[in-house]
Amino acid sequence: MLMGALVGCGTAPVPRAVSSLPRVGTPQTVRVPLGLPDVPVPETNPLTAEKIALGRQLYFDPLLSVDRTVSCASCHHPDKGFADGRRTALGVGAQTGTRSAPTVLNAAYSRRQFWDGRAASLEAQAGGPIANPIEMNLPHEVCVARLQAEASYRAAFQKAFGSEVISMEMVQQALASFERTLLSGDSPFDRFRYGGDAQALSPEAQRGLAVFLDPQKGNCASCHLIGDQHALLTDGLFHNIGIGADAEGGFKDAGRFAETQAPADRGAFKTPTLRQIGATAPYMHDGSLKTLRQVVDYYVGGGNSNPQLDRRVRPLELTGQERGDLVAFLESLSGPVPPQAGPPPAAGAPSRQ
Ligand code: HEC
Ligand code: HEC
Repeated sequence: MLMGALVGCGTAPVPRAVSSLPRVGTPQTVRVPLGLPDVPVPETNPLTAEKIALGRQLYFDPLLSVDRTVSCASCHHPDKGFADGRRTALGVGAQTGTRSAPTVLNAAYSRRQFWDGRAASLEAQAGGPIANPIEMNLPHEVCVARLQAEASYRAAFQKAFGSEVISMEMVQQALASFERTLLSGDSPFDRFRYGGDAQALSPEAQRGLAVFLDPQKGNCASCHLIGDQHALLTDGLFHNIGIGADAEGGFKDAGRFAETQAPADRGAFKTPTLRQIGATAPYMHDGSLKTLRQVVDYYVGGGNSNPQLDRRVRPLELTGQERGDLVAFLESLSGPVPPQAGPPPAAGAPSRQ
């Protein structure tokens, strides 16, 4: 399924994944770090150790791109908070896209994937970048044929799916399974708020948290949610906060509007998680803000005016110290990167260029 569809981290719509694969392998649950809820797993793709291991192999393998130079990790790298540190993403043949690569950490919790929400699941998302001409540019049938030609991949698919005959659906399920283990929690903020450790957060970051929560001050938590038991730091919804608006209030990238055609969605993008945010500069869907300080100053200024601007984005009265405190709080949202999230051990790995 999804054969030949040119859908990617670019702009085309992504069909929904439906699974008819047999159930094999060793069931696995994900150890969830402090501050996060249980990971939702679709019934059609139960987590197994074999699928996660295979997904990890695929995630780091440039074989998935036409010239064998680009892997998922090129744009979502563990050393860069699972983003790429670039304003807009860099694909095969040095082509650049128009949007910034978001972190894949905690993407497992998103009800919809991409800045505009056009993919309904991690499974549906994963097929996109492989075929996208400006990302990996590998037609799905070529992708499957390449994997099929490698003995070590045939063995790994056999273990994960009970069949040596590889399909794109299997590739997408394995990648999604690996991504469900890429979680960011247990940060100084989590240890302070959910772990009962009053020392975990610096006084600056504690004051910043108060500004973040206070409806009269930052009011940030009205979109970047913080709950009693856990904090996803996103509401999973789409809002226009004015990023990308030109002087006339128009948008080159209409965001969610391209999906829904609802006028209210013009210039609206998915609220991103703020976890590991200190590691994923530059910021916003177009990578237009370089530092967290610039982000805070942008909100304080009330955002770029346009007809669909969310009414919560309005000039804020924050002192210089409060702005610095907000930055300190944002920097406290980074936790340890899961140890199994790095590149797989080279021994026994499929051959690569
Ligand atoms: C050339 C760079 C590039 C490559 C390669 C790439 N991505 Fe992405 N990825 C992006 C960009 C840019 C976006 C945002 C695009 C958008 O929203 O339209 C994105 C979005 C995503 C998202 C959605 C996250 C969210 O919060 O909505 C996931 C998940 C993801 N990519 C996983 C992958 C996987 C898995 C692979 C490998 C099969 C991959 N990406 C390869 C650049 C890339
Ligand atoms: C109306 C909902 C809303 C409110 C209120 C809000 N945000 Fe956001 N935030 C968003 C959306 C939506 C984006 C992505 C916008 C885009 O890229 O076009 C975003 C992006 C960000 C980013 C960049 C994330 C990234 O990965 O690039 C940071 C940092 C951030 N917000 C912090 C804050 C802070 C601090 C406050 C309070 C001063 C705040 N937000 C208030 C919805 C909101």
